[in-house]
Amino acid sequence: MGLYEWLFPLARLLPAERAHELGHWALKLPLPLGGGRVEDPFEWSGLRFPNRVGLAAGFDKNAAVLDGIARMGVGFVEVGTILSAPWPGNPPPRMSRREDERAIWNRLGFPNEGVARVAQRMERFRARNRSGLILASNVAPHPRTVKAGGEGFLAEARSELAQLAHALHAVSDLFVINLSSPNTKGLRDLLYGPGFRDELILPLREALSALDAEADRPEPTPLLVKLPPEDGEGVPWTEESLAPCLEPLRAPGACDGFVAVNTSIGLARARGASPDEGLPGGLSGVPLRPLAESTLRLLASARRPEHLLVGGGGVDEPGDALALRAAGADLVEVYTGMIYHGPRFPGACARALAER
Ligand SMILES: Cc1cc2nc3c(=O)[nH]c(=O)nc-3n(C[C@H](O)[C@H](O)[C@H](O)COP(=O)(O)O)c2cc1C
Repeated sequence: MGLYEWLFPLARLLPAERAHELGHWALKLPLPLGGGRVEDPFEWSGLRFPNRVGLAAGFDKNAAVLDGIARMGVGFVEVGTILSAPWPGNPPPRMSRREDERAIWNRLGFPNEGVARVAQRMERFRARNRSGLILASNVAPHPRTVKAGGEGFLAEARSELAQLAHALHAVSDLFVINLSSPNTKGLRDLLYGPGFRDELILPLREALSALDAEADRPEPTPLLVKLPPEDGEGVPWTEESLAPCLEPLRAPGACDGFVAVNTSIGLARARGASPDEGLPGGLSGVPLRPLAESTLRLLASARRPEHLLVGGGGVDEPGDALALRAAGADLVEVYTGMIYHGPRFPGACARALAER
């Protein structure tokens, strides 16, 4: 039995955030994770993903354990959510496990060391790592700015996104903009409201294009939009409710695809999560899977042919990764499943997809 087999059951005796820290500590040890690399290449927009499974945003918010993630045998990782400046996140209680249904409740609210530190770590990782791991930078406007709202808020958010693009462009294979976290008051409202494409997404797209031109990058840096599994009331998407959010993003050149899904406030509320500052937090893990699947089906029939579709939410066994692929996902990502099944789980999912 290896160290990881001992540590992961032990970690589950600790409160969720302490367990996360222990997991990070263990991943920093240069130990083999078993299973090895999974070669099942997928090529898209000039990028070569070693395989189709990745780690979702939130596990490595600060690019602190990229070497460990590369040893897991995954094809990509979303680093972040990365912010323009350090931020402590929401006060506790802000994360707990629901062991009975292999779920996690969280309202972390983007704790992050800030882009300067994160970009530096990503740069060092890229210089030394030969695994081919694709690095996606998951970015968002700063919670301080979003919460303050008011006049000038969108201009400030735009300038933060441009700052993130500048700092991360050279070290990222692609970008994901996250307006779908339920844990910063006002953030998701941007996605449901009018104008978010013109005010935030297109300016980020333009900033990336300018950087591509400066760097002579042969293919444009892709920009994906991360979506929630539900409407503003926490009710799962229907074709009608999703359309107003999706339509602006389907215009040519608006974005290059979608990551679906973020955590669910509807599922958190249904489990009696009491709102703090009006936020019930978000639920991930097994109960989210049907919502991930239904959202992916809606997106698969509405996306442009060139759009990339990254599916995640409740992947708890390798068969779930196959199901999300069948629902339309080109790539699959995991988070909560790895917390319950250990660091070999993502590699097992990648293997299942490779052998299908
Ligand atoms: C503790 C925790 C922190 C998360 N932090 C982020 C984040 O910073 N940015 C983000 O886009 N998604 C974040 N997520 C959402 C995950 O990336 C993923 O979309 C969601 O958990 C569904 O996948 P899962 O059921 O496999 O966990 C977080 C999820 C959890 C459980």
